[in-house]
Amino acid sequence: MAGASRLEPPNPPENRIRPLLLIGPPGAGKGTQSRAIGKAFNIAEISTGEMLRDALRHGTDLGNSLQSTMESGRLVPDAVVSSLVEHRTAEPDSQLGFIVDGFPRNVNQAEFLDRLLSSRRQPPALALLISVNRDQLMKRLAGRRECPVCRTAYNIYLNPPQRDDLCDHEGNGLIQRPDDRPDAVVRRLEEYERQTMPVIAHYRNAGQLEEVDGNGTAADVTAAILRILKDR
Ligand code: AP5
Ligand code: MG
Repeated sequence: MAGASRLEPPNPPENRIRPLLLIGPPGAGKGTQSRAIGKAFNIAEISTGEMLRDALRHGTDLGNSLQSTMESGRLVPDAVVSSLVEHRTAEPDSQLGFIVDGFPRNVNQAEFLDRLLSSRRQPPALALLISVNRDQLMKRLAGRRECPVCRTAYNIYLNPPQRDDLCDHEGNGLIQRPDDRPDAVVRRLEEYERQTMPVIAHYRNAGQLEEVDGNGTAADVTAAILRILKDR
């Protein structure tokens, strides 16, 4: 992707906030925090995992070609996600700033993003690492359920529905993400340690990393991130 022609967004407005990246193991709360911080600053929330799951749900050629990779817990090719991020960050709602959940996942993707921002004369990204202990991660992932109709999220251990396995709003059966099954969770954690942990070093060495304790409630973690952003 290095030599590919770049999408040029319009000139950035003066009040743009620097690009924010959420890094952390599966279940760390990247999606939860991305939504909260995105709303707090009124900036675009970009999730590569959600974009890929949308492609799967809609049965697009892209989705069909990636289904078995995603369900097994492996990373999809860099070129696919880099192109998604390049296009999404060039859209009008990204021009005041954006927060990315789930990208970059390896050093190649991080270098791609660094080059992209620099070629657009945008400020370097700030990476926020959310750390959560292993027991808590396993509970969050094994317990996660979703309503396939209204997409309300539940956790059978931490935030259960009123009636077992049924959506409080729609009354229909809840579903589990295929990659939340135990074998896929193990693979996702391995991918994180092997491919994503070097990304932490990449941003730490560049002075572009802040760490957040993600073990508290979602509201506690949001408050901790907001405190960091106030000082940067
Ligand atoms: P992706 O969708 O990014 O999944 P992930 O990183 O494995 O993480 P999760 O979405 O499971 O967790 P999260 O950290 O977002 O936590 P969440 O807020 O949901 O990626 C999925 C797949 O897509 C990859 O395996 C790969 O195949 C592909 N992919 C995506 N990006 C890619 C890339 N860049 N390169 C290559 N492949 C890519 O929270 C988890 C649960 O905990 C929820 O139930 C939530 O309600 C609960 N929770 C959250 N915070 C708290 C809290 N503080 N206290 C209690 N419960 C909490
Ligand atoms: Mg997520």
